[in-house]
Amino acid sequence: MKSKLPRVGTTIFTVMSELARKHNAINLSQGFPDFDCPDRLRELTEKHLNDGKNQYPPMAGIIELREQIARKVNNLYNHVADPETEVTVTSGATEALFDAIHASVSHGDEVIVFDPAYDSYAPAIALTGATPIHLKLDAPNFSIDWTRVSHAITNRTKLIIINSPHNPCGTILTLTDLDSLAKIIRDKDILVISDEVYEHMVFDNRKHVSVLSHSELSLKSFAIFSFGKTYHATGWKLAYCIAAKELTREFRKIHQFVTFTSNSFLQYALADFMTECPEHASQLHAFYQKKRDYFCSLLATSKFKLSPSSGTYFQLVDYSEISEAQDTEFADWLTIEAGVAAIPLKPFYDPNNLPHHSHFIRFCFCKDDSTLREASARLCSL
Ligand SMILES: Cc1ncc(COP(=O)(O)O)c(C=O)c1O
Repeated sequence: MKSKLPRVGTTIFTVMSELARKHNAINLSQGFPDFDCPDRLRELTEKHLNDGKNQYPPMAGIIELREQIARKVNNLYNHVADPETEVTVTSGATEALFDAIHASVSHGDEVIVFDPAYDSYAPAIALTGATPIHLKLDAPNFSIDWTRVSHAITNRTKLIIINSPHNPCGTILTLTDLDSLAKIIRDKDILVISDEVYEHMVFDNRKHVSVLSHSELSLKSFAIFSFGKTYHATGWKLAYCIAAKELTREFRKIHQFVTFTSNSFLQYALADFMTECPEHASQLHAFYQKKRDYFCSLLATSKFKLSPSSGTYFQLVDYSEISEAQDTEFADWLTIEAGVAAIPLKPFYDPNNLPHHSHFIRFCFCKDDSTLREASARLCSL
């Protein structure tokens, strides 16, 4: 059989987690907490499971949850989304990204992505027959050069994918960035996918700037969020997409034939939990800032050079004082020999356009303090 994705292997997250398991290493690679989701959320899950919420929910998600989502984005981003026609619950942000990409582009179109980029974007683009145009975010700031973006636009450009807070760099976009983007696509037939799954993890008194809060961009964007990240429940694979009615109509045409709908009782539990415990989301930035600060303080005496992490639960580090090896080799060595798994950046880049010298790896700090302590002790001994 001819492969549709001949250069795609198993994602680096699975590869590194498996290597960590095999070598009994502390897993700071894949982005999932080693602590559980809130007790009350689990109680509500059990309740709805036992209450018979076990059949197909509506295709776009249960209305109770969509109403909660609409209320939330109104409070946070001053954006009015119609829960009937503009909010869709999906099976993870990965599904939402896939649906939004397939709704937006087809063969011959071009899609601008910024490398290092989350690894699901390029394969989803390739499956539509469109071409990903990879623009690099340059170290050490990893910010977007908007002049470079405007030069990359052609009459085939139909979509730009942004991600803030950014995985793996931990950077965040500002209102000035969104204004630059809006200006570039003004009067053009170009849509935006805004991957905002780490919306609640923004540190140092800065605020997440959503495309939904931008009057121009909110009309042209698919804004994607993940319950998995916010509620420490990555295994639930539940997320949502907010987009204007006409965009949502096309989005749902894909969604209904990719998964049709998403888990029923978890949606009921989340709808109740969002009503009962709004502070969970609103306090998440403080929770993760404390973890970031703790992890960074533990690594202060190590030979790793830390990049500032303004958002997400990832910390990028430069290991060039420890090794000259390529990042994939170094990450393997670190897992096998030092007992700590990390994610190399190479898989986040277009293989034809790798950075000349990448000595960065990504650690995930959404872990118990004891895990961070043990991992840091190993890392400081290098
Ligand atoms: C930037 C980014 N987008 C999307 C996803 C996928 O989220 P989900 O688990 O909800 O599919 C992730 C998960 O790590 C991510 O880091």
